[in-house]
Amino acid sequence: MKSLLTSALPYANGPLHLGHLAGAYLPADIYARYLRLMGREVLWVCGSDEHGAAITLRAKKEGIDPREIIDKYHALNKGSFESLGISFDYYHRTSEPLHHETSQEFFLKLLKRGDQFEIKTTEQYYDPEANQFLADRYIKGTCPNCSFENAFGDQCENCGKDLSPTELINPVSTISGAKPELRETKHWFFRLDEHEAWLKDWIKTGKVDGVQLHDPKDWKKHVVGQCMSWLDGGLMPRSITRDLDWGIQVPDAPGKVLYVWFDAPIGYISSTKQWAAENGGNWEDWWKGDDSELVHFIGKDNIVFHCIVFPAMLKAHGEYNLPVNVPANQFLNFEGDKFSKSRGWGIELQEYVEEFKDFPNSEDAIRWALLRNLPEQQDADFTWDGFTEYHDKDLADKLGNFINRVTVLTHKYFGGRVPAPQGRVAPLSSGEGSGERFLAHAQVQSEVTEAVYKIGKDIEAFRFKDAATTFVELASFGNTYLQDAAPWSLFKANPEDPAIAETMYHCAQIAAALALTCTPFIPFSANRLRAVLNQSPATNGDWQLALDTLAAGHPLLSPEHELGEAGVLFPKIIDRKDDSRNAIIQKQRDKMAAVLAAKSEAETTSEKEARDPFKPEMTFDDFLKMDLRTATILTAEAVKKSSKLLHLTIDLGSEQRSVVSGIAKHFAPEEVVGKQVVCVTNLAPRKMAGVLSEAMILMAEDGAGKLVFVSPPDGFGDGWGVR
Ligand code: MF3
Ligand code: ZN
Repeated sequence: MKSLLTSALPYANGPLHLGHLAGAYLPADIYARYLRLMGREVLWVCGSDEHGAAITLRAKKEGIDPREIIDKYHALNKGSFESLGISFDYYHRTSEPLHHETSQEFFLKLLKRGDQFEIKTTEQYYDPEANQFLADRYIKGTCPNCSFENAFGDQCENCGKDLSPTELINPVSTISGAKPELRETKHWFFRLDEHEAWLKDWIKTGKVDGVQLHDPKDWKKHVVGQCMSWLDGGLMPRSITRDLDWGIQVPDAPGKVLYVWFDAPIGYISSTKQWAAENGGNWEDWWKGDDSELVHFIGKDNIVFHCIVFPAMLKAHGEYNLPVNVPANQFLNFEGDKFSKSRGWGIELQEYVEEFKDFPNSEDAIRWALLRNLPEQQDADFTWDGFTEYHDKDLADKLGNFINRVTVLTHKYFGGRVPAPQGRVAPLSSGEGSGERFLAHAQVQSEVTEAVYKIGKDIEAFRFKDAATTFVELASFGNTYLQDAAPWSLFKANPEDPAIAETMYHCAQIAAALALTCTPFIPFSANRLRAVLNQSPATNGDWQLALDTLAAGHPLLSPEHELGEAGVLFPKIIDRKDDSRNAIIQKQRDKMAAVLAAKSEAETTSEKEARDPFKPEMTFDDFLKMDLRTATILTAEAVKKSSKLLHLTIDLGSEQRSVVSGIAKHFAPEEVVGKQVVCVTNLAPRKMAGVLSEAMILMAEDGAGKLVFVSPPDGFGDGWGVR
């Protein structure tokens, strides 16, 4: 059986971050590496998604050609993937002529069928100054849902609502700033509605035309759920052309290009074609063969395109296989908040690669931390604490420690050679460790066999976190087994005790199983571990070979095999203040602190209100508790040791009071004397910077953070109640 794997083609208009890696690339890499080790035929394609309005918009803004942008980010993203061991078989580009031809052919094939497109003239926004139709992203305006003023024509980034440009209040063109006009234009609509019935059946039952193509129980619940809710909402014809000049020309329709979401998934096909052209394979075997399974790795924002739209395109075209699974992931957050490039929150892949270049084993450290916390079923949160902890607890304490101890002890007792098994139940342990009985020979063997098998089964079922857990459990099992057997005590009592050989033989097998099964997760370290065991890097088919070997009751490391040099494989990070790795991580924390500080500095009241327009409701009685009065400021002076506070005296008509007010950055003392203000007079008095404050003055803050007094007109008089 062939496995054709795809990962979402990243847009080549910006860098990728850790969340992308965890979503569509690291899981696919683990899967691909595992299948290769199982000796399966695997082809994993990806590439840059180089069309779409976002790219042209950015190019226009920067006054450069879109080419410059895509060339830059194609190289950058491809390079980051390579640095982190992401082992695509091919990384193509949708700007390549081969992709343009492939997409146009695909389009023409559907057009020829006659029933797949509907050509309609609709009204669309046109920029009269830039003389062009405006893609949804090119229009900004006020969100009808949350009143956010910078909503895009396709979506409001504040409340997340999907929009169409005509819903925006006060739309403006982001190209020229002009007010757009509605004009007529012609577009091709893909008849998704015609595909609704079979799609529903396929998602629900895994069958098409009565043929079982997959078991729907194998699909993630949230994926099926999202598809069903779309399908239940009813499918409509979808426009698949745009009035743009950047993209794939619609044949015989000047000025029109294919919508980016129509051409991008076809990019998987052209990537396969290009791979075949360079490597001498037949691309059609992978896409159309009965013995080939297609799997799409994506993040949850791409589910609809990969489970509904693209399958409908493939079916409409005919001959193509449908995906057997689309194991979409949820989102990864960063330290409690969404990744945000504009706010500088998160870490980009290239940033990680560069800033961690002196961090030994950094590729696997990040791969492992992401794997242990993959957003497989729910959103997850990446933290630097977690990063350190997973490294130290799993890789250092369990995996590295075990392999190191096994190597050291084998050198000590057996000159570095794996001893022959003794095949007997050893005596009770000497009292160290948990004091459990030695495990029977067969029992140790079956533990190892089962773990190797189960890790693989979990990977095959896209349960990568479970696979990692089983892996860590195998390492724990090794540590416990060694600790309980305590060969050092046996050696003290009787250096000839056969239980020592028995123990070290099994430990060598466990170590070999770990050094093999860690390969998909931490491929760089896997080679180091295998070198310590004096094994060459794992190659295609080795996992299957190990399963066969274990099933036959044979060892993974034969007696007499000579182990390599021991060494600390994963020095711990925590509690090592002198370790340069802590300084590297600290730099990341410092960056976060700076972003947070800048944010609280920059955020004005009106911005806070834009995020969260109103406070929760209160009762009229709550309101009546406040005593609001007019007053005049009589005196004002700076408060010593504070740059923010002024000390004021106010006249309430009936009495004078001392007030401390945080307005020193906005007003000089002499500016405010004589001002008539409104204040709250019944707040509990409190001291600020050592000065008593017996009232609070009301201020209003504008969008730029500028403060003004809430004032009655001059000469209004003091002590009047405000309602
Ligand atoms: N570029 C899209 C994104 O980053 C993904 C495209 S996936 C493909 O969201 F199937 F269209 F290629
Ligand atoms: Zn909104």
